Amino acid sequence: MKIALAIGTRPEVIKIAILANKLRSKLGGDFELWDSGQHYDYNLDEIFYEEMHITPPDVNFNIMSDCTSVQIGKMMACMEHHIERFKPNIVIVAGDTNSTYGAAYMAKRCNCKLDHIEAGPREYFVHYTNGHPTFFKTKAMLNMAENLNRILIDNMSDYLFAPTPMSHDNLLHERLFGDKILSGDIQFDVLLKWLPSIKNMPFPRKDFNLLTLHRAENTDFKINLVRIMNAFIESDEDIIFPMHPRTKAKLESIGKYRDVINAPHITVCEPMGFLDFTNALLHCKKVFTDSGGVQKEAYLLNKPCVTLRESTGWTDIVLSGDNRIVGSNKKHIMDELKNTTKFISKNKGIYGDGKATDRIINYLLK
Ligand code: UD1
Ligand code: UDP
Repeated sequence: MKIALAIGTRPEVIKIAILANKLRSKLGGDFELWDSGQHYDYNLDEIFYEEMHITPPDVNFNIMSDCTSVQIGKMMACMEHHIERFKPNIVIVAGDTNSTYGAAYMAKRCNCKLDHIEAGPREYFVHYTNGHPTFFKTKAMLNMAENLNRILIDNMSDYLFAPTPMSHDNLLHERLFGDKILSGDIQFDVLLKWLPSIKNMPFPRKDFNLLTLHRAENTDFKINLVRIMNAFIESDEDIIFPMHPRTKAKLESIGKYRDVINAPHITVCEPMGFLDFTNALLHCKKVFTDSGGVQKEAYLLNKPCVTLRESTGWTDIVLSGDNRIVGSNKKHIMDELKNTTKFISKNKGIYGDGKATDRIINYLLK
């Protein structure tokens, strides 16, 4: 049995931190890790291999940044070449990025079995009535790159590993072809493994909020980006903001970058390593984010999360009241910054028992 694991961006490297090494130790030369190189800055890629002791990828495709078609096209060309060379029986992908989609499509076209980890979440718009969330879908959900990628990948996959009961239900309702397995979330396994050492790390700051922002719907629409930034600039709450390079580039291009870094209560820094970032998450009052992974980690660490998006795929934690959706609404963001009464946030086991990685490996190697 030969397996190739194809990844390419920050969240994918983090997610597979345990899976890749375990597969390598079980399969030896019959396993390869392929990194697309969609993320190439040290602190979006290599740092995670180093700090989480992931054996470096067997190949890096160096696709880097470009428009969607070129990025996915380069990924497909590299996949075809390396599938032909290595001849894997199974290709594993995780998540919803352009790298994931390009890898998944070519795996199927080259007659490999396709395994999708993190299958099943679907984006829903969230609307609150008297504080209670309701969810609704529109055709616009398909305009969101990650949601479209994930739906297409799920439709192609032979093995669909769902991280939550709700995502498993989505797969069952859609009656997709592949085996649908409720595995739990491999990101939880990763968090649990490194949490004890992170808890021993000192953290020099307190009474601060943590902010991450990089989604196209926020960065690529000036009105949204300015509204969000002004909410943080005009509040006097302390903010730590590890800034994604996409956001930095967009802020510079609209002439807003200096306003952000000159705000005395906002500490802008480079994207952090996973250990430092999780430590910051453990110590912050609240996290404000448009990241999918950070929404989950906040819930798993019992940390109030305010989501800077109109929609989310992680509906379970909105329903349970642990995640508030505010989009780019300046007033709502400022209200959340002022409101220090913590809303209840408690990990109720939605993401499994921390054994998803072993469950997936056992299923594939049985
Ligand atoms: C990608 C994923 C997104 C995921 C995010 C994780 C897609 C469509 N998007 O978004 O789902 O949440 O990764 O962080 O696949 N850049 C650098 N250095 C890098 C990488 C990117 O400077 O190492 C800058 C470039 O200006 C680039 C921009 O960031 O144009 C966007 O990068 P890209 O990989 O296309 O998308 P992300 O926004 O990172
Ligand atoms: N993360 C990190 N450093 C940072 C910000 C985030 O290591 O400065 C981690 C975070 O802990 C989570 C992952 O990056 O595991 C989420 O990735 P990202 O927000 O880039 O993408 P998404 O999850 O939205 O696809």
